[in-house]
Amino acid sequence: MSDLQTLEAEITAAIEAAATEAALEDVRVATLGKKGSVSEKMKTLGKMSPEERKEMGPALNGLKTRVADAIAARKEVLKKEALEARLASETIDVTQPLRPAPAETGHIHPVSQVTEELCAIFADMGFSVAEGPDIETDELNFTALNFPEGHPAREMHDTFFFNEKENGERLLLRTHTSPVQIRTMRTQEPPLRIVIPGRTYRCDSDQTHTPMFHQMEGLVIDKTTHIGHLKGTLEEFLKAFFEVDNVELRFRPSFFPFTEPSMEVDVKCDRSGAEVKIGEGDDWMEILGCGMVHPNVLRNCGLDPDVYQGFAWGMGIDRLAMLKYGMADLRAFFDADVRWLKHYGFRPLDVPSLMAGLSR
Ligand code: DAH
Repeated sequence: MSDLQTLEAEITAAIEAAATEAALEDVRVATLGKKGSVSEKMKTLGKMSPEERKEMGPALNGLKTRVADAIAARKEVLKKEALEARLASETIDVTQPLRPAPAETGHIHPVSQVTEELCAIFADMGFSVAEGPDIETDELNFTALNFPEGHPAREMHDTFFFNEKENGERLLLRTHTSPVQIRTMRTQEPPLRIVIPGRTYRCDSDQTHTPMFHQMEGLVIDKTTHIGHLKGTLEEFLKAFFEVDNVELRFRPSFFPFTEPSMEVDVKCDRSGAEVKIGEGDDWMEILGCGMVHPNVLRNCGLDPDVYQGFAWGMGIDRLAMLKYGMADLRAFFDADVRWLKHYGFRPLDVPSLMAGLSR
């Protein structure tokens, strides 16, 4: 085999052996590059005699062309192989089920949802939100709210007490959100318009009572606030909350130490079916307690009852949630059962607002 044939055989083998485009490029540089083996051979033509050149010229040019063609052909093959490998490695199995987005798997608890709904309604009426601690003093939970020491109304609350401290003080888990009325009146100047959502505690448990439950309190204090404002506020609120055009309310005389007069409010409803329907029917259902703030309570907060007056109300958030969304057992609210939450919970991105709809 002549030198040229040996060289061509070697080059052809190297081209075939190149497994990647980068390796093939190395072969190209080593043969057709400036100092490549073929180029070096081409340089020898100049020093040849005319006869030799006549024979070697076509032979070398032929070699150069064949090498260039072989490299180009190999390059196409490698390109195709690379594409196929990529397609194989990047295939997506479109038959796989979609993984649900986090916003679809998490759910908002009905208590949180209803709290948000209530805040949205009262914010629209110009109320702001006030909060207080779950652990309260006897003074704020009872005494300042005009529960005299030893008064039987204290017994009605089934209070969880902490152990007595050395100074005789006894803390408790607040039995209602009313102590936040005192906290607010003692620290803020009227006019006041607040709602107070929060956890409350009583030693009680059955289908409609749990030891921890939620209340929302309302308080309005101003110089000319009267009972008509109370009725109007509650009526507007109940229409917005139950998303009905009309509600009929009934005010029954009642007793709370911190209000005078005190009333319980019933709403007209239909209880004939499995669910209670608000705004229709001939039945009545108790929904909240309310009244005009007692002068003693105002005095206990440093307000002059001859200048200021106002109204307050208190209601169970969990109970409102049960009524609106048709849940029969309150205890299930706090079982932390994700199946229950999935069924009764709300989508995280559907934030309640009066404009977009409270519950959709
Ligand atoms: N604190 C009362 C309770 O838990 C509810 C209540 C009734 C609050 C009348 C009020 C009110 O502010 O005016 O039973």
